[in-house]
Amino acid sequence: MHPMLTNAVKAARRAGAIINRASQDVGAIKVQTKTYNDFVSEVDRNAEQAIIDTLKEAYPTHGFWGEESGKDGKEAEHIWIIDPLDGTTNFLHGFPQYAISIALMSNGQLSQAVVYDPNRNDLFTATRGRGAFLNDKRIRVSNRAKLQDSVVGTGFPYRDFSNLDAYMGMFKDMVKKTSGIRRPGAAALDLAYVAAGWFDGFWEIDLSTWDIAAGALLIQEAGGIVGDFEGDETWIDTGNIVAGNPKVFAQMLQVLTPHLTDNLKSNYQTPVAE
Ligand code: IPD
Ligand code: CA
Ligand code: CA
Repeated sequence: MHPMLTNAVKAARRAGAIINRASQDVGAIKVQTKTYNDFVSEVDRNAEQAIIDTLKEAYPTHGFWGEESGKDGKEAEHIWIIDPLDGTTNFLHGFPQYAISIALMSNGQLSQAVVYDPNRNDLFTATRGRGAFLNDKRIRVSNRAKLQDSVVGTGFPYRDFSNLDAYMGMFKDMVKKTSGIRRPGAAALDLAYVAAGWFDGFWEIDLSTWDIAAGALLIQEAGGIVGDFEGDETWIDTGNIVAGNPKVFAQMLQVLTPHLTDNLKSNYQTPVAE
């Protein structure tokens, strides 16, 4: 295993131990609301601190972008992108579908990825150019050829509803054109499931970089494709993401593009405030 990946796995397992301990008594966890329907707990913060402490000890000059602590070291050559607990709402309800996501961006390119499910002890890892693995076993995206036979993951809008109508249009069509849709509630794991071939595809609007960075590299290293709703590269910044095996990916774009409003298109420029 690449030494940087070894350190990322060590950090993810430390966070997993914190999360598993806290999951024994979720009722006792202190929760705050960040914005409408967006929660953070002491568990998210402690897990993030454990990850950053572990990685900083090994790499004191690297940058760290954590969901809870913000962006430190924007100009660094190596930047760790961290979601310490993806699926907080599930976690707080005792619904056992959540994960730790850690990615390394080196000179603007994703280079290492870990998605760790502490419930099942599923460890998904990838290093650019060396393939993707689940617990040391090589994984590949599915080879299902038709969208109509596919099971596709997604995430519903839940705190910002400005794209809800566009999303519902996409959803209606996908319901008819797939063999099933799932909304498990942790985007990093959803993407890992595409890499493992358990989902044939996935799409969601407006995710954050820390939700998708690690999962995207897993998929690319497993032979899949990641893009925005027009198949371009803006997904890492916009969080508008489609992923799948190469055949299903192309068919998903055909279903999604008719529903794109201007702000969901690749060439959309965020208006600058006067
Ligand atoms: C959330 C989960 C969820 C997705 C949300 C994310 P969080 O992450 O990944 O599946 O639909 O958009 O924000 O807040 O639990 O880390
Ligand atoms: Ca997340
Ligand atoms: Ca989170």
